[in-house]
Amino acid sequence: MNILMINGTMRKSTTYRIAKMFVERVTLSRDTVNELFLPRDMPEFCRGCGLCITQGAKKCPDYFIYLRRVTRLIDEADLLVFATPAYVYHATGQIKALLDHYGYRWMVHRPEGSMFRKQAVCFSTAAGGGMKSALKDITDSLNWWGVGRIYTYGVAVRSMSWDGVEKSVKDKIDKKVNEIMSRIVHEPGKVTPSLRARVLFYLMRHMHRRGFMQQIDTDYWKEMGWLGDVRPWMVEKAEPERIEPGKAGSGQAVSEKWPKKANVCIKKLTPEMVDDFLYYFDNDAFSDHEEWSACYCLQSHLGREEDERCVIKEERRQRAKELVLQGIMTGYLIYDGNKVAGWCNAGDKIDYGPVCEDVQFFTDRVERGRIKVLYCMDIAPAYRGKGIAKAVMERVLEDAKEEGYSYVEGYPFSDTERDYQYRGPVRLYEKYGFELYRKQEWFFIMRKEIRRSV
Ligand SMILES: Cc1cc2nc3c(=O)[nH]c(=O)nc-3n(C[C@H](O)[C@H](O)[C@H](O)COP(=O)(O)O)c2cc1C
Repeated sequence: MNILMINGTMRKSTTYRIAKMFVERVTLSRDTVNELFLPRDMPEFCRGCGLCITQGAKKCPDYFIYLRRVTRLIDEADLLVFATPAYVYHATGQIKALLDHYGYRWMVHRPEGSMFRKQAVCFSTAAGGGMKSALKDITDSLNWWGVGRIYTYGVAVRSMSWDGVEKSVKDKIDKKVNEIMSRIVHEPGKVTPSLRARVLFYLMRHMHRRGFMQQIDTDYWKEMGWLGDVRPWMVEKAEPERIEPGKAGSGQAVSEKWPKKANVCIKKLTPEMVDDFLYYFDNDAFSDHEEWSACYCLQSHLGREEDERCVIKEERRQRAKELVLQGIMTGYLIYDGNKVAGWCNAGDKIDYGPVCEDVQFFTDRVERGRIKVLYCMDIAPAYRGKGIAKAVMERVLEDAKEEGYSYVEGYPFSDTERDYQYRGPVRLYEKYGFELYRKQEWFFIMRKEIRRSV
């Protein structure tokens, strides 16, 4: 389960202590926890331009500055935990600023489908009173976002610090936190939306079908299939394609099995091989796709955003060169005699900074020697369809075992029709006993446990 705490103040005081107590108790070892602190992580007020509502979320002036990250964290969470003290009988202003930014997600407009399968817990404290209205400020939005299950707890702590809270109040808090915890569903796919969420959904659906709503919103509902048979709380099951016997990773029949070809071998990339690596990307890797010729396999080391920003080929080449020379970019070169026929980007997960930082790739504890990543495979056009990908996969697995790794992970695209499957097609991972660990929006986390021979 992926848990996101949204703290309505920067103070780690009573409200935070209570919410954190809940999060610590509800978290299992396989869960992930992220925390947002307001206003630090979303410092801007809504400017009221209304562009998110009339033109789309990405038109918000804050989208690329703060909102994209916050939205990603919210969307990826299975459990949202809000924590706000009561300030003058309401949620803090910074909580309101965050909620205002999601006006376009109210069910009258364009709700995010995953909300219906999320759970939320909202905590509020006050010295004396105001918790109820503070909580309502949040639950009004959560209800209209379509959040499947919402729990609240407000408590008058009669203090502005945890140390000042009386023991009897702390005991009451302790009991209530446990009670809410027991209601949380740990299997994200098993959350069913409340009657309220479904009633609101059907009411809005009716309005859209009758043509009472804004066109952009109705188009969205149509596109999501919600005006037809699809419901946002239906769980999509990851159904990776099965490999058919006798087919290679590319989906083509294997005519000439590799590595029977005498001269072809797989070598671990070392800094001394940097010229071969660069020559391959300069000349052969994308001889059929000139538009990708500046790739140099940098995405996993720069992160998607920087990768998209860094567009000058010479600069990318230089960065790749440095990464290889520093031993950070690691993997395998596939040689046919002296000629490089392909490349596989693989190495210790800890060396892939952006992968480790991106919550989407999170599986569990990352420490050197624990998880080996197979991030990318690129075979030169003349060598495709010959089973090279399988041979590379076997080599990666063999090495991982020898090197003492506990897991090998790959991140193939969930769109199996995508024409350039540079992360390796999902069926290749299946064939080699990888299991689906988690389905993300556009890729699968496939993972194989490496058992040591005894
Ligand atoms: C600006 C401000 C407004 C507040 N308004 C109220 C209020 O309306 N009702 C109340 O009982 N306490 C009010 N308080 C007190 C806090 O809500 C209360 O001490 C709360 O538990 C503090 O939470 P924290 O320890 O997590 O910061 C206010 C405090 C501040 C700083």
